[in-house]
Amino acid sequence: MTDRYILVTGGAGYIGSHTVIELINNGYKVVIVDNLSNSSYDAVARIEFIVNQHVPFYDIDLRNGDELDKVFKKYDIHGVIHFAALKAVGESTKIPLKYYENNVGGTMSLLEVCSANDVKTIVFSSSATVYGDVTRFGPTKYIPIPETCPTDPTNPYGKTKFVIEQILKDIHTSDNAWQVAILRYFNPIGAHPSGLLGEDPLGIPNNLLPYLAQVAIGRRETLSIFGDDYDSTDGTPIRDYIHVVDLAKGHIAALNYLKKLNDKGLYREWNLGTGKGSTVFQVYKAFCKAVGRELPYKVVGRRQGDVLNLTAKPDRAQQELQWKAELTVEDACRDLWRWTTENPFGFELQDYKWQEFDGLQNRLHTVQNKDLQVTFCNRGALIQDIKVGEQHIVCGFDNAKEYTLETNPYFGTTVGRYANRIKNGEFEIDGTKFQLTQNDGSNTLHAGNNGFDKQNFFGPVVKQKNGKFTLEFKVVDADGTDGFPGTLEAIVKYTIDSLSIEIEYEAKSLDDKPTVVNLTNHSYFNLSGNGTIDGTHIKSSVDQLLELDGAKLPTGNIISKTIPSTISPEVILDDCFVVDKDANAIDTRSKALQTLVEATHPDSNVKIVVSSTEPAFQFYTGDGVNCSQFGKRSGFCVEPSRFVDAVHSDNHKGQAVLKKGDVYGAKIKYEFR
Ligand code: NAD
Ligand code: UFG
Repeated sequence: MTDRYILVTGGAGYIGSHTVIELINNGYKVVIVDNLSNSSYDAVARIEFIVNQHVPFYDIDLRNGDELDKVFKKYDIHGVIHFAALKAVGESTKIPLKYYENNVGGTMSLLEVCSANDVKTIVFSSSATVYGDVTRFGPTKYIPIPETCPTDPTNPYGKTKFVIEQILKDIHTSDNAWQVAILRYFNPIGAHPSGLLGEDPLGIPNNLLPYLAQVAIGRRETLSIFGDDYDSTDGTPIRDYIHVVDLAKGHIAALNYLKKLNDKGLYREWNLGTGKGSTVFQVYKAFCKAVGRELPYKVVGRRQGDVLNLTAKPDRAQQELQWKAELTVEDACRDLWRWTTENPFGFELQDYKWQEFDGLQNRLHTVQNKDLQVTFCNRGALIQDIKVGEQHIVCGFDNAKEYTLETNPYFGTTVGRYANRIKNGEFEIDGTKFQLTQNDGSNTLHAGNNGFDKQNFFGPVVKQKNGKFTLEFKVVDADGTDGFPGTLEAIVKYTIDSLSIEIEYEAKSLDDKPTVVNLTNHSYFNLSGNGTIDGTHIKSSVDQLLELDGAKLPTGNIISKTIPSTISPEVILDDCFVVDKDANAIDTRSKALQTLVEATHPDSNVKIVVSSTEPAFQFYTGDGVNCSQFGKRSGFCVEPSRFVDAVHSDNHKGQAVLKKGDVYGAKIKYEFR
């Protein structure tokens, strides 16, 4: 582990995102710079979701040296992995200047900032395309291709890679303290095995597998195979296809190699390929196998610029970097198909947008499904806004700062790891006592001072399938936070249909230590549109509640009571209604959703129905609300959850104590009619 950072340019892109994951898995600290010209912030959100860490990200164009310099000043940068470039061969022949400007110009700007900050370690993404058509030396002399093969790129894109290699060589010659690793990639394919990251080409894909994947998912009709009259076993050209995860690992190997040189400088090229060539037909068949059916294709004429064979001789990387590709074309096809089925449109989702909320790490994510628009923030995985038709029906702040103030009454947030009160801020599991932060008199409320509402969740992973959106947020709550035992991972998954939001909670211990869990959502609903809940009509068949004492803790009695059918100013509630008095399960998700409350208002076009799988719910008329944009009774809450202070109830402990190996689960649904 080192405190120094690796700057990854183009880290939101296809190869960059996979490399960031490998870097973090290998103990490196990473900062990403990417102008998102060919990628999406969602890739960064997903990287964080996979690695369970926040990764600093800057939306900066490399050509903006001043902004780049600020990143170098802010982080102690040890070295750079430089992916950022435009990469479409065909496009480069049409707009060559743009390619030189972006790729060469961007690199020059980067190198100037590196020099100014005394950063002299760089790993550069080059390409097998720099070798050009190696059959110019005869059919076998340079196949497989060694690094010593003469270079002769044949298109502007390849020439930018060649020019950058030369610039780096010249810099090293001028100052041999520079450590320069040139990695020449062959054909990267596949996706992350999690199904969360992959290639997301804009427009019509140029490359074989991305095109074929779009045929398989129904976005394109037929694959065109560019020529079957080459001198290969089946007449189609041969390439060295390498799984993107193997390729990503090659960068770690290169960095480790440079590290071992201590401060000795170097300029050296390595091929990153498998050493095994595959024809177009072989790859086509492997992908059809992964998909489970034959995909339509037709053989058309050769594509201009294609060559017969580009297969790497990867021996140098194997010997010097101790790196070798391990995954097969079949592995890559399987992972690509998983990525494609989970994300049929890549990161390009219609009716989804995100915006910065408060600079680094705080963002708003908005999805629109027909008449329902919902906005989330990664802080607390909170619901900032729900709009049904033209009507906004929850309280939420329009600036990020308000969420951080003491006056914020938990608007829309996920409450955890333990919602509601724990008496005297203490509990016992298996004979061990735990003392929590007491933030509500002598009790603990909503998990103390660092509850989930104060934490920035990882993600979201946003998907759109079968007419629904899903957004998944994740938090990892450290062992000892506010005195709670065990490292707890919690996932909050929202499913947004055209007129409903379903929330699913899942939590488990990452270190096998037992702990306590109680999760809910703290949205404040308002149907009147005029700043008060008074006049709201409520229908609820739940007719029992936990009797609470003056400190809002249970006395142990269950008494009969219903929510009045009209919320008049005299109706002041902050009560825990009981749905199932015998419930004692830690995971309620297999239960049927039960309707808790239906709410309407004479001035509203919307009716809300709240249901859940939970044994209880807190109903709160918001009498304590007192913040800049909202006052007393500006929203009411229905918070499905476990019994208040269940950890101290012999009969209900099982609802809230998460034992080793158990998984906590719950579901809540808001329907709008
Ligand atoms: P990609 O387009 O997915 O990633 C490149 C990233 O760089 C994108 O996120 C883009 O937004 C960013 N970027 C581009 N110009 C920028 C600029 N001026 N400032 C800041 N960010 C900028 O491509 P990829 O497939 O991940 O390729 C990564 C690198 O590997 C590229 O340099 C590419 O030339 C090289 N390469 C790719 C392949 C391949 O087949 N994918 C093969 C050989 C080499
Ligand atoms: N192919 C088809 N149909 C398609 C797309 C491709 O038959 O729709 C064939 C091509 O003719 C070629 C093979 O599939 O024989 C691979 O083609 P790709 O476009 O996927 O990859 P290339 O080998 O042409 O080029 C790739 C990158 C370049 C990089 C080069 C380095 O796109 O940026 O690998 O090896 F320089």
